[in-house]
This record gives sequence, structure tokens and C-alpha cells, in this order.
Amino acid sequence: MNKKVLGIASVVGFLAIALPVSAQHAGGVAAPPDLGELPEVAASEQISSDEIDTSERTIWDGVFTAEQAVAGGALYTKYCQGCHGKTGRGTPGGPGVTGANLNKAWEETSLLDFYLFAHGNMPPGNAGRIGNEQDYVNIVAYIMEMHGAEPGESKLVWNEDQLSNIYIVRKPRD
Ligand code: HEC
Repeated sequence: MNKKVLGIASVVGFLAIALPVSAQHAGGVAAPPDLGELPEVAASEQISSDEIDTSERTIWDGVFTAEQAVAGGALYTKYCQGCHGKTGRGTPGGPGVTGANLNKAWEETSLLDFYLFAHGNMPPGNAGRIGNEQDYVNIVAYIMEMHGAEPGESKLVWNEDQLSNIYIVRKPRD
């Protein structure tokens, strides 16, 4: 074992001892989950093409595909559900990311802001490390589906022009 590996091993060992103790004293805040081996994350370029829909839309306009929500759901279950709950309504370890909480915290903001928050902060301690940018976009699609939005024909992609033009608004009454 070289020095670097030893260094990492001792940090991991320290965390394993330190985490349960801090969790006990954090008063209801869940400890970061043990993520095990993180996948290799290939840096991804923004996806751009003339076919990407960058028109102004809301999350209720069928802005993601059913297929990508399934892909995002697998990641959500593994890395997010422990704190945000099976339907995204929150747990003592994390606020709701769907329903009334989503409306309250994110109304009138764009999916770009929502994505940037998730990619930049989640999961705590491993922000941006559980997948590439498109993987996080797929998680966003899944969260919107849990919130009640229907999938559609066009894919939600890692493209700032597209994401910044899709707004989180309350569900329109039919
Ligand atoms: C260890 C618990 C934990 C895990 C795991 C976790 N979160 Fe969070 N999340 C939190 C906490 C605590 C907050 C509130 C922090 C804040 O607002 O700064 C939060 C806030 C959020 C918010 C903003 C919610 C709001 O209403 O403001 C989003 C979106 C979010 N998380 C998405 C995710 C996603 C996506 C994942 C999985 C990749 C994830 N979280 C994993 C604990 C967690």
C-alpha cells in the first residue's frame, strides 16, 4: 500500500468512527448515507443541437421522457430517497422535494436553478459525484414525475438554454 492509499484509508477509518457519533448528536438529522463505491463519472459536455426545444415551458408541458425518469428514479432510490422519502415528501433528514414543499420553495424558478442546487449540493458530502450532469437531469425528471408531472415526447437534457426556460409552477387547474 502506498502512502496515498494509506492516507485515504485512515481518513475513511476516521469517518467510520466519527459519523455515527455526530449523527447521534445532530438531533434528527440523518447521517450521510454510506454510498459505497461511487461510479466513475465522465465529465459531460452540455448537450447542444438544433433539435433541442428551448421554448418557454412549464414542468406540466411533458418536458421529459418516461424512459429518462426511470433512469433518474434508480439513482434517486439509491442516493436521495433515504433523506427525501419514497415519494419525495421529505423525512426528518431532508425536506420535501415534491408537493407543497416544492411549490413553496421553488415556485416560478427554472429547472436550471433546481438542477444547479441538486448538482451543487446533493447528496450532502458527495455533491455532484453520484453521476454526470445528464444523470442529475434525469433525477430532476424523476422528481418532477413524483410531483405529478406527466412525461412527454421530448427529452430533458443537460443544456442551460433548455433548462432555464422551463419553470416550476403550480399545477394548472383543468
Ligand atoms: C443525507 C441526507 C440527504 C441526502 C442523501 C440527499 N439530500 Fe437533498 N437535502 C438534504 C437536506 C438536509 C436539505 C436541506 C438543505 C438546504 O436547504 O440547504 C436538502 C435539500 C435538497 C433540495 C432542496 C429542497 C428545498 O425545498 O429547498 C433538493 C432539490 C435536494 N435536496 C435534492 C437531492 C437529491 C437529488 C439527492 C440525491 C442525489 C439528495 N437531495 C440527497 C438532505 C439530503
